[in-house]
Amino acid sequence: MSPLRYKVYPKTMKKNHSNTLVYPSILSGDFGRLAEEAKSLEQAGADAIHIDIMDGHFVPNLTFGPKAVSAINRATNIFLDVHMMIYNPYDYVEAFVSAGADRITFHFEATEDVEDTLEFIRKCGIEAGLAFRPETSFSMVPKYLTMCDLILLMTVSPGFGGQEFMPEVLEKVELTRKFCEKQEIKIQVDGGINAETGAMCVKAGANVLVSGDYLYKQAPSVKQGIASLKELS
Ligand code: DX5
Ligand code: ZN
Repeated sequence: MSPLRYKVYPKTMKKNHSNTLVYPSILSGDFGRLAEEAKSLEQAGADAIHIDIMDGHFVPNLTFGPKAVSAINRATNIFLDVHMMIYNPYDYVEAFVSAGADRITFHFEATEDVEDTLEFIRKCGIEAGLAFRPETSFSMVPKYLTMCDLILLMTVSPGFGGQEFMPEVLEKVELTRKFCEKQEIKIQVDGGINAETGAMCVKAGANVLVSGDYLYKQAPSVKQGIASLKELS
């Protein structure tokens, strides 16, 4: 087996004037022209590209594998935020690191090896994120705050784009922010994010907004949609 090619210099994220980072979800883009889609997100001012990996088991849908991530990586120079919605995430870390992921976020509910997986991702030289389904209690969150770079609080049930935002998750965002006040950790929300729900999440303490359908289908253009979300602070 060939040794893992650790990423020595992960790409840096673009700095923007506000504290709110905006990651378009390429799940809402055109799969037939993934590389061009990724390039245009980079040009439209995205802070990173959010790539949803689904296995048809942890969630009832199938999407991208490492080859698609690698194609996006070759086409761009932007930070790649890989959101794994798969069982046994540990087993796929190396493949996605080699493909060019700059951060891997996996689900707390998908493995019994949460700590080992977080540790392994960081050992590979990239950032580690931990995601929580809407129904998972906040009480599960604090234990992992020092072990990861980002907490993802899902604001829809993971699996599909274009779903309605779940406002009940806002309380979990607030509680997580209270716990992290003195830490650098990023709090990401994903699912049903538009200018209105994004504003609620930022007010509650989120600083990374993932958005799919709003940017691709509702905003006047992806570029204007990204700009409107970045203004939220
Ligand atoms: C859902 C995915 C999201 C999705 C968000 O399981 O994790 O990243 O693309 O899309 P919207 O913004 O359309 O809800
Ligand atoms: Zn996602």
